[in-house]
Amino acid sequence: MKFTFRCHRTAQKKNEDRQWSRFESRYQIKFGSVRTLGLLIAVAIPSLVTGQDTTDYFRANCMNCHTIGGGRLTGPDLKDVTKRKGAEWLMGFMQNPKSVVDSGDAYAAKMVEESRGVVMPASPGMNRYRAEQIIKLIEAESKLEKSQFQGVKVSNKPFTVADRLAGRKIFNGTSKLTNGGASCIACHSMHDLSALGGGHLGPDLTRVFERLKGRKSLSAWLMAPATATMQPVFKSHPLEAGEIHSLVAYFEDSAKYGEADASTNRVAFLLLGLALATGTIFLFDFIWKGRFHSVRRPLVDGVVDSIHQHSNTKTSETVAVTSLGSNDSQPKRGDA
Ligand code: HEC
Ligand code: HEC
Repeated sequence: MKFTFRCHRTAQKKNEDRQWSRFESRYQIKFGSVRTLGLLIAVAIPSLVTGQDTTDYFRANCMNCHTIGGGRLTGPDLKDVTKRKGAEWLMGFMQNPKSVVDSGDAYAAKMVEESRGVVMPASPGMNRYRAEQIIKLIEAESKLEKSQFQGVKVSNKPFTVADRLAGRKIFNGTSKLTNGGASCIACHSMHDLSALGGGHLGPDLTRVFERLKGRKSLSAWLMAPATATMQPVFKSHPLEAGEIHSLVAYFEDSAKYGEADASTNRVAFLLLGLALATGTIFLFDFIWKGRFHSVRRPLVDGVVDSIHQHSNTKTSETVAVTSLGSNDSQPKRGDA
């Protein structure tokens, strides 16, 4: 299989090459060397790809703690960070924040203090090359009037009852998410969703407003969730700013209540299961009774009828078989 496949590919490749060189020689005079053009494209494309890759990486791994020009979140605003500290130091810090902090570096110590003791975690897949690309990205974004990493504009307007209700609807899936993300209730529970209470794959979100440190930082978190399950689920279906606003309103309100008690939920779940099971048994009973009348009865009647009709022949056959059986055994006995 592999061999024939290769042969086919090679033949195809040769064919393509032949066509390519024909194409090339025809246009060489007109446009200069097409190969040079190809080379240019070959150089340009990977760098574009890396650019997108770095943007994605920053969005996924850094944006929930840093803005560029949007003010501090858990970590400092990274706008013009290269003017505060040299690229070499920053690259070292990004690759291993803890070791720089532990080394007693004064600048790092001051940053940690300003971040209320949070030490920046190491980022997955960070290396020198990646750090270099990120520095370039931060420098480019810092020059812009409005960086794409400015973060959500979190308004200071007090949340309204309507906001909270809208958030609850988004949470329990009554309102569909604009970009097609999965409803939160599939994986999360809340204090006011009794009975089935929501999914248990993710944590209870009743007090997430406190856990994730308030409006701004929770909004930023939801804009680019960076955790193992949330990231893949929402990376290609990001929440809209309006949706985040409503959800955060709902979470702010719910933080006043205790977390949904998992044991009560479980009892409710059990009772509901029992009720369902009982209901199912009655339902089946009903269906089966119906089936007996509609399917079984004619069948049974048919059989009874046929027995009645052929009863005479059947009796004589039975007699014949019996007598044949006895005839068979008789000669044997005679042989013996
Ligand atoms: C969990 C939050 C968090 C995440 C995620 C995070 N950082 Fe940080 N970052 C911090 C904090 C907090 C500081 C301040 C230093 C400290 O306390 O460790 C910081 C400091 C920095 C600094 C130095 C800032 C300055 O003003 O000199 C840079 C640069 C930086 N982070 C880049 C990144 C990059 C790039 C990523 C993503 C790959 C990232 N951070 C992910 C929290 C975070
Ligand atoms: C496919 C399941 C799934 C869906 C759908 C989902 N989450 Fe999550 N969520 C998780 C899991 C699992 C975690 C725990 C961290 C992780 O693994 O990502 C989590 C963590 C979180 C956290 C952080 C909680 C904490 O205490 O740190 C927040 C906030 C959150 N989710 C909000 C939401 C919101 C809002 C929605 C709906 C718009 C949602 N999630 C939909 C699975 C899900």
